[in-house]
Amino acid sequence: MAVDSVAQKHARVPLIAGNWKMNLDHLQSIAFVQKLAWTLKDAQHDPGSAEVAVFPPFTDLRSVQTLVNADDLPIAYGGQDISAHDSGAYTGEISGAFLKALDTKYVIVGHSERRQYHGETDEAIAAKVAAAHRHGIVPIICVGETAEDLEQHGPSAVPVAQLRVALGGAAQGAEIVVAYEPVWAIGSGLAATSEQAQQVCAALRGVIAEVLGDDVAQATRILYGGSVKASNIAGFMREADVDGALVGGASLLLDEFASIVRFQKHVGT
Ligand code: PGA
Repeated sequence: MAVDSVAQKHARVPLIAGNWKMNLDHLQSIAFVQKLAWTLKDAQHDPGSAEVAVFPPFTDLRSVQTLVNADDLPIAYGGQDISAHDSGAYTGEISGAFLKALDTKYVIVGHSERRQYHGETDEAIAAKVAAAHRHGIVPIICVGETAEDLEQHGPSAVPVAQLRVALGGAAQGAEIVVAYEPVWAIGSGLAATSEQAQQVCAALRGVIAEVLGDDVAQATRILYGGSVKASNIAGFMREADVDGALVGGASLLLDEFASIVRFQKHVGT
């Protein structure tokens, strides 16, 4: 890694984000977050070395907020989706205003499961990025190619194109996080190699620089997601343009997730 990219990488606090998907009800979420906090505290995890965030189902958020506030836990939380609209006749949707009222820091936008099962287009995702920023919430913008995309267009063309459109919704000067999640790696047990992740994350940083400027690109955290586990996190984190992970299945396993958060203890492995 060149001296410059090392310095720039160090200026970005890594983010380890746990996407619970449709798992854990509000009572289970309280138990999990409490145990996670204890585990990290026992292990003397320094919150300054890696930020931890969990993404429970909407119905859990109020319970998680109450626990985090009451015990002053160093754990952030976010929603798994956000409506592009602020209020009105949109049955089943959740406004950014409601998320913000629960001190929600982040929201996942454009996860491949939303794209696949709910037909979310790049334009719809840009509108959700805009909604998050209207309410002071940091969108985690997910992009990634399918196995067919990879075969037809190579590794970065599709995620780069997806990100370019999504960034159209970003407000000037507002924080974003980007997650590169190859669809073929999600839930498959077959993670990208750290070199593959680096190649695409570097291309994504290039798009951010083009659209939002160099300073924003250098400050933005880009995560890798797709079959991340304790045994492969260190390799990803060694790469210049990978600033954390969006973790699905392994985020539901307490010890495994805590070990991923503590990747700095095993970067040499
Ligand atoms: P996985 O999911 O870690 O289970 O592959 C990642 C995600 O969907 O965000």
